[in-house]
Amino acid sequence: MAPISAIALLSFSLLSISISLILSSNIIEDLNLPPPPDFRSTILKNCKENPLIRYCNAVSGDISDVFKSTIVAQHLCNESKNPNCSNSFTKIDLSTRPLIAPLYLSFTFFWKYCPLTILTIDLSNNSLKGSFPSDILFCSQIQSLDLSYNGLIGEIPTDGFTNLTNLTFLNLSYNQFGESNILRLHYFARFNSSSFLRSGLLAKDRKFNVGSIVLQVFLLIFVVGIIGCFGWRCLQRPDLLPFFLQRKHKFTQAVLKAATDGFSEGNLVGRNKRVEIYKGILRDGSEGLIEIHRGKFSFESRRDFVEECRILVQLDHKNLVQVLGWCDNREFRAVAMRWTDGYTVVEWLSRNPQWKHRLKVLMRVVEAMCYLQDQWPQVGCEIRTSSIFLSNDHEPLISKLKVQDKNNPSKNVYKFGVFLLELVSNRSPHEGFETGETGFVEWIKIHYRHHVRKVIDERMKTTVITFVQVKQAIGIGLMCTDVSNNQQPSLHQISKMIDRVYQSSLVSQSATHRHKIQRTPTNALKVNGD
Ligand SMILES: *[C@@H]1O[C@H](CO)[C@@H](O)[C@H](O)[C@H]1NC(C)=O
Ligand SMILES: *[C@@H]1O[C@H](CO)[C@@H](O)[C@H](O)[C@H]1NC(C)=O
Ligand SMILES: *[C@@H]1O[C@H](CO)[C@@H](O)[C@H](O)[C@H]1NC(C)=O
Ligand SMILES: *[C@@H]1O[C@H](CO)[C@@H](O)[C@H](O)[C@H]1NC(C)=O
Ligand SMILES: *[C@@H]1O[C@H](CO)[C@@H](O)[C@H](O)[C@H]1NC(C)=O
Ligand SMILES: *[C@@H]1O[C@H](CO)[C@@H](O)[C@H](O)[C@H]1NC(C)=O
Ligand SMILES: *[C@@H]1O[C@H](CO)[C@@H](O)[C@H](O)[C@H]1NC(C)=O
Repeated sequence: MAPISAIALLSFSLLSISISLILSSNIIEDLNLPPPPDFRSTILKNCKENPLIRYCNAVSGDISDVFKSTIVAQHLCNESKNPNCSNSFTKIDLSTRPLIAPLYLSFTFFWKYCPLTILTIDLSNNSLKGSFPSDILFCSQIQSLDLSYNGLIGEIPTDGFTNLTNLTFLNLSYNQFGESNILRLHYFARFNSSSFLRSGLLAKDRKFNVGSIVLQVFLLIFVVGIIGCFGWRCLQRPDLLPFFLQRKHKFTQAVLKAATDGFSEGNLVGRNKRVEIYKGILRDGSEGLIEIHRGKFSFESRRDFVEECRILVQLDHKNLVQVLGWCDNREFRAVAMRWTDGYTVVEWLSRNPQWKHRLKVLMRVVEAMCYLQDQWPQVGCEIRTSSIFLSNDHEPLISKLKVQDKNNPSKNVYKFGVFLLELVSNRSPHEGFETGETGFVEWIKIHYRHHVRKVIDERMKTTVITFVQVKQAIGIGLMCTDVSNNQQPSLHQISKMIDRVYQSSLVSQSATHRHKIQRTPTNALKVNGD
């Protein structure tokens, strides 16, 4: 049996329990004591006086637990240094008692019958581990609870707290609860953030301080600065923008300046009074031609110019120059075109191209004219040997386009006729003919019937077959240029006629080819066999 060190008449007036007991200093030993014989009647008497006492609700089998809870209460009151434990037990103060605090917390039977006199519970600084000690919430009458400086984790039993209606002080600081932004909950709104410092219960983004505000202001200034710089740069060089942000066909003067290396002389390919033409590297890395007009442009003229460009950028034919975009300022206007190196038909003719290549060029030009007439009747093109260019594989490129109010089909056919006759004769209507085109056409017409060889490019070697074709072509040219009786063929009819001549030139060429082969010595056997 444990040594008897103290005899006390425990008469907790507020607990309304009076038991005579011999208590040792060791609580574990004392918990083995049996309840005194009159314990049950004492309880009944106390409950009659104060029915609120928690053990009054206990079922009869729990009498041993009730007794043990009174043992714990006596020890805990003494441990908590309450001044007069025989009279009152107002606070549980186990602050910085890491060796015994967990022990007392483990006595669930004590907390279940938590004495009504207790108003304060302090379990701070005990390195308590694990989840929130929910048993203490049985003491629903408490006004103060301190659990700071522990290692508690997990969730707060927020429902249990709502029973603590008289709680005015709470400290859960310095724990490791799961984040829950607890101040949003109605019950905890009565406390301020100093109850939950570093508890894990406050949303982190709520923590504003001067330092972070200053940092954020600097960040904002930095971001605005970057965006500003980027915007300014893009105003200068929209081609540096990501592709989806670019305005597809509109160029700024700065972009064109950059593309032409500052409108450098080295990039200048042509100039007259009003127009400068530069080569430049455009945004996609391809070479382009940039035609620049300087001057003062009225509002109307600018509007018309942009309208015209909007149409031209939509044209899509391999034999029409591709307009990439435009630039429209009050004193500066430009059109950018896709470009590949080539030479004019005039230069090409000086190299005496083959008949079938001349026919191919004629065919392609009339095809492009048909495309315009069918799809873009408001767009006219210049059909001249000096403004039509040729690539190395004899694909012509019509380089001058114009949006016009009235596009005269008869005039277009006439222009094509003159072009055709130039290609056949290698003569320019502007050289040696007093009346220009009319004189040129008249000259051809005169010789067509009896001395047609006189008008055919003398360098062109014609066989019997190609001569017929050349004559047919001249006939088409004369039909086109004959405006006397409204009998001009349409562009589509011309296209068909030229195509027929072209096809026959291909057939006759392969026939000539075969003919030649048969006459070579290696084919002698075959010739003999005939
Ligand atoms: C009460 O506490 C004092 C020290 O605070 C201790 O000496 C004494 O033994 C305690 N009494 C009991 C019954 O635990
Ligand atoms: C403790 O309570 C007893 C009984 O009510 C009383 O006689 C005594 O004066 C109290 N002592 C103190 C220090 O309050
Ligand atoms: C917490 O306990 C430690 C010893 O375990 C002690 O040094 C420290 O001062 C205590 N802190 C507070 C706030 O009581
Ligand atoms: C809160 O305090 C009031 C007045 O002191 C009391 O009547 C009430 O029972 C207390 N609430 C609880 C839950 O103990
Ligand atoms: C609140 O207290 C009542 C009675 O005091 C109890 O029945 C109930 O279970 C408690 N609620 C919680 C969530 O502990
Ligand atoms: C928080 O509440 C306590 C009282 O519970 C008070 O002393 C303290 O000044 C309050 N702090 C703030 C920041 O409001
Ligand atoms: C809770 O405890 C911490 C640490 O001791 C302290 O800084 C804080 O002010 C306390 N909160 C309240 C509401 O007393």
